[in-house]
Amino acid sequence: MTAEPTTQLIKADGASAAQAARVLAAGGLVAFPTETVYGLGADATNGTAVARLYQAKGRPAFNPLIAHVPDIAAARALARFGRAAERLAAAFWPGPLTLVLPKRADCPVAELATAGLDTVAVRVPNHPVARALLMACGRPVAAPSANRSGHLSPTTAQHVLADLRGRIELIVDGGPTPVGLESTIVACLDRPALLRLGALPRAEIEQVIGSVQPAAAAAPATDGAEVPLAPGQLGSHYAPRARLRLNARRVAAGEALLAFGPAAAEGCERAALALNLSARGDLIEAAANLFSHLRTLDGCGAATIAVMPVPHTGLGEAINDRLRRAAAPRQGM
Ligand code: TXA
Ligand code: MG
Repeated sequence: MTAEPTTQLIKADGASAAQAARVLAAGGLVAFPTETVYGLGADATNGTAVARLYQAKGRPAFNPLIAHVPDIAAARALARFGRAAERLAAAFWPGPLTLVLPKRADCPVAELATAGLDTVAVRVPNHPVARALLMACGRPVAAPSANRSGHLSPTTAQHVLADLRGRIELIVDGGPTPVGLESTIVACLDRPALLRLGALPRAEIEQVIGSVQPAAAAAPATDGAEVPLAPGQLGSHYAPRARLRLNARRVAAGEALLAFGPAAAEGCERAALALNLSARGDLIEAAANLFSHLRTLDGCGAATIAVMPVPHTGLGEAINDRLRRAAAPRQGM
């Protein structure tokens, strides 16, 4: 996949799902209609494709993404369903409901798509074009709304084209989306919690599982959606056990090292364990490796992870945002 793709716009027809699946399998980006809004899809199991997706959207930070699957059987391969989740899925899938659930240990979704969290957001959309694409693809598809960060969610293929032309490989035009409002998001972790109001009314959810707590603090996201604002119990960002020392140019004895680029850090031979986000200095590769490398380094037992500077351009901005959050002192710890 080239850095600046030519965007092809095709009408949804008997052949479009197979074409979209081929583009996704090759690591490409495909916009497609769901019943809520158009999604921008990438193979959720391919960290590099997911990194390109954040880049195409121009996301200032790596918000976790929803994994779209064709049916509940495929959802069970990603996440663990408790009682409330089972009932909600039976009542509303396929449909405009996203469930945030504990990630299975063998969940194939890339760490970057879940932003390093132990939870995963899953949704079975109710739209013939989306379902055909997901069935043809045979893998979970990570798909945020198909707009540039800070813009409105798109409800037509023309909106997507206006926002993302030259940034994605393919747009499948299935006409205007019927609902036009994003899915409702419910976390089923300890107690069900409403993370985002959306196309499925709260009253309908409460008929099935009783009252749901709204997430303690919700703040408007840059793209107009509601996102949970650091609700501790939901773990809204990845928190390593080790302390992070940012912009490190040398390594102290016993520290782990998260390197970036071809230049060696001073004293890197002293590192308890050293991993490079991208030895060739490629920010897409670095983004794809970010959370999995942090996890591995955190597991090596070192008290501190020294992190070499990452340039603040392109995806580097989002990488630095996440590193800063991971380095911040823990609340309540
Ligand atoms: O209707 C929709 O949901 C559309 C269509 C394309 O499916 N998708 C969509 O995705 O609205 P997006 O990325 O714009 O919004 C997803 C929201 C974000 O606010 C994100 O923070 C939240 O879901 N989210 C995803 N994974 C999460 C997790 N593990 N824990 C908490 N929130 C999560
Ligand atoms: Mg959005």
